[in-house]
Amino acid sequence: MLKPSLIALLAELTAGHIIPRQTDIDYSRAPPNLSTLANNTLYSTWRPKSHVLPTYGQIGDPCMHYTDPATGLFHVGYLHNSGISGATTDDLVTYTDVNVNSEPSIRAGGINDPVAVFDGSVIEHGINGTPTLLYTSVSYLPIHWSIPYTKGSETQSLAIARDGGRNFTKLAHGPVIPSPPFAVNVTAFRDPFVFQNPQMDSLLEKTNGTYYTIISGGTHGTGPSMFLYAHYGDESDNFQTWEYLGQWWHEATNTTWSDAGWAGRWGFNFEVGNFFALDQAGYNPSGEIFTTFGVEWSYAPVVPQVSGEHDMLWAAGKQSIVNGSLKFEPTMAGRLDAGRSAYAAAGKAVLSSSKASQKSGAPDRFISYVWLTGDYFERVHTPKGQQNWTGSLLLPRELSVGYINVIDNDLAREKASWRVETEHDNGTVTLATMQQVIAREPLAAFKSNTSTVMTQPGCIRSSGGTFEHSPKSKQYMFEASITFPKRSNTTKAGFEILSGPHETTKIYYQFSNESVVIDKSNSSAAASTNDWVLTDPESGKLRLFDIPSANGTEIETLHLNVVVDGGIVEVHVNDRFALSTWVWSWYEDSRNIRFMVEDGEVEFGEITIWEGLVNAWPQRGAE
Ligand SMILES: *[C@@H]1O[C@H](CO)[C@@H](O)[C@H](O)[C@H]1NC(C)=O
Ligand SMILES: *[C@@H]1O[C@H](CO)[C@@H](O)[C@H](O)[C@H]1NC(C)=O
Ligand SMILES: *[C@@H]1O[C@H](CO)[C@@H](O)[C@H](O)[C@H]1NC(C)=O
Ligand SMILES: *[C@@H]1O[C@H](CO)[C@@H](O)[C@H](O)[C@H]1NC(C)=O
Ligand SMILES: *[C@@H]1O[C@H](CO)[C@@H](O)[C@H](O)[C@H]1NC(C)=O
Ligand SMILES: *[C@@H]1O[C@H](CO)[C@@H](O)[C@H](O)[C@H]1NC(C)=O
Ligand SMILES: *[C@@H]1O[C@H](CO)[C@@H](O)[C@H](O)[C@H]1NC(C)=O
Ligand SMILES: *[C@@H]1O[C@H](CO)[C@@H](O)[C@H](O)[C@H]1NC(C)=O
Ligand SMILES: *[C@@H]1O[C@H](CO)[C@@H](O)[C@H](O)[C@H]1NC(C)=O
Ligand SMILES: *[C@@H]1O[C@H](CO)[C@@H](O)[C@H](O)[C@H]1NC(C)=O
Ligand SMILES: *[C@@H]1O[C@H](CO)[C@@H](O)[C@H](O)[C@H]1NC(C)=O
Ligand SMILES: *[C@@H]1O[C@H](CO)[C@@H](O)[C@H](O)[C@H]1NC(C)=O
Repeated sequence: MLKPSLIALLAELTAGHIIPRQTDIDYSRAPPNLSTLANNTLYSTWRPKSHVLPTYGQIGDPCMHYTDPATGLFHVGYLHNSGISGATTDDLVTYTDVNVNSEPSIRAGGINDPVAVFDGSVIEHGINGTPTLLYTSVSYLPIHWSIPYTKGSETQSLAIARDGGRNFTKLAHGPVIPSPPFAVNVTAFRDPFVFQNPQMDSLLEKTNGTYYTIISGGTHGTGPSMFLYAHYGDESDNFQTWEYLGQWWHEATNTTWSDAGWAGRWGFNFEVGNFFALDQAGYNPSGEIFTTFGVEWSYAPVVPQVSGEHDMLWAAGKQSIVNGSLKFEPTMAGRLDAGRSAYAAAGKAVLSSSKASQKSGAPDRFISYVWLTGDYFERVHTPKGQQNWTGSLLLPRELSVGYINVIDNDLAREKASWRVETEHDNGTVTLATMQQVIAREPLAAFKSNTSTVMTQPGCIRSSGGTFEHSPKSKQYMFEASITFPKRSNTTKAGFEILSGPHETTKIYYQFSNESVVIDKSNSSAAASTNDWVLTDPESGKLRLFDIPSANGTEIETLHLNVVVDGGIVEVHVNDRFALSTWVWSWYEDSRNIRFMVEDGEVEFGEITIWEGLVNAWPQRGAE
């Protein structure tokens, strides 16, 4: 945050380029209409320091992640500037742009992709052992599930990494998957995700180690789908030939896994489908099959090309051969992030041999980066020139299978974001779900790389109250726990953050609809003069189970991990829930953390705050 009334010309060294930034903003007074300010004046106001985003400009879907076999460095990619840009990391904490000013490594404008480059994924040991990108090459726009599909709009093409990934060079031939399956009237056909899977090999009677890709989309009138292809032929084919194996997964139009809202809706069209297998430790090719995917839908009536709703979901399930083709059937599904701006997650298997994992001693993992769109899918008009960046990726997450032993009652028995793994003869069941936590390296770095550690003693409370020590900045993480003595439908308990005389943001749990809520109604004084500052609440469903205790039964404790990084707020709960959003807190003095309890009495455990986080971009200079 900049000092109030400071008129400064910040000379900033960014990869060799001087970026002058004039700042002339008083954060102790009510904000004006921010779109009337000079360009670049809001660059630092809400910019996160520990997250992945380009030097300037707009970030789109994460994609094209890979570990380079030649260096062991992990590459994180994202759509940017009509192409895909990337950064490398050897610790998942700090990143280095592969190109100056985060310029793309591949750009639209070739014969296969005259109009756009959409998401792609990387075969790490690809052509001649070189990382090889399979990506969606676009020839016609618009494309949207609510309008007829223009033939030839989306094809899948190859490009090869050169120069350490600074350039992905397109191969001088046509698309390797030149059209959607024969006579299928698709809603979309994009975002190929390449993987290997021994269970698929055996069910399909393919050679061990066969490469597969799923391509996301759907069919007009019948619903969303993931189309499955297998690489056909041996290494000498150089990934030129792909055999269509049918719709690996299909759901009926605008249906849902759970009317109670545990898993959004399947919608009209799938996007960004990822395929991977997990066990309790992390990535395991022989483990349980998972997919993460985005869905597009809308409230009726459908307004062409205005897809109101997006859900970022996960599902786990079983594969079997039905009528000769391989089908996926979910056994549980949920939201990867319940935030309305959280979407288009892309993950990658990061093996223990990857440099970051060697440093931290991590096993094979599946690591996913979720996108947090900065302009709500282009539906609000943010002051783009003033901020000079839009959107960010969220912190990397480790996904695995999580287990919890709970009392066997109605709460455990529901078609939801968990499934019953084992029934015991003592009145309990073990549930399985998808575990998701902030990757261990950034989590550890936020804790170790600061001398500003504050603790707030635990207490039993029935009302609010300000912490003894609150952060001095808007960059910190805190961990807290709340135990509820009973399930009262009127109790709300949690915290207020970024709180001051003018603004406050409430994060709380309530039993009435079993949800974690971020109340943004009073988060930003900018809302009254800027209609792009959304004030409606964010929420997502989380069930606190009954668990065995010394006395019989107690309600599972709520464990919160909250990261505030400039305008980003990530709320991670009980290793299985995440809710992320933008909070455009304006005032300099909106920094306090407060307890929040309404109508009830709850027990807070000791709270620890680590202030400062970590500068993820040391090579870009101070931001
Ligand atoms: C990558 O290299 C090729 C071949 O030199 C060049 O045509 C292309 O423009 C480069 N791509 C980018 C994004 O710089
Ligand atoms: C494909 O679906 C669109 C949208 O429903 C429809 O307008 C079009 O006629 C269909 N095309 C074919 C060949 O069935
Ligand atoms: C393929 O892998 C499976 C499981 O690892 C193994 O049982 C099988 O023998 C392998 N088949 C071949 C042809 O290598
Ligand atoms: C999709 O389903 C939801 C929930 O029933 C409904 O509100 C919505 O109108 C449906 N969308 C369309 C376009 O029919
Ligand atoms: C298998 O195919 C037959 C013939 O097309 C069809 O009647 C049947 O419903 C299919 N079975 C399943 C499980 O999809
Ligand atoms: C500010 O940035 C916008 C692009 O966001 C540009 O169109 C405009 O010309 C810039 N204004 C000035 C004064 O540089
Ligand atoms: C954003 O920053 C870049 C790098 O300094 C600059 O070239 C560009 O003009 C800026 N954009 C706007 C809209 O000010
Ligand atoms: C119930 O049995 C399971 C399986 O043996 C065990 O893991 C769990 O701790 C038991 N719970 C209680 C409350 O005894
Ligand atoms: C709380 O509200 C839910 C949903 O309205 C209802 O099903 C439940 O019975 C209520 N519980 C209590 C204790 O009133
Ligand atoms: C803020 O200013 C912009 C640009 O002048 C204008 O388009 C917008 O309507 C204004 N917003 C409000 C809420 O007045
Ligand atoms: C067990 O229940 C008794 C009586 O209700 C209570 O005093 C005690 O604190 C409880 N112990 C635990 C560990 O919950
Ligand atoms: C940790 O903090 C120090 C300043 O206290 C800084 O110099 C160092 O670069 C930080 N480490 C990382 C990984 O950012």
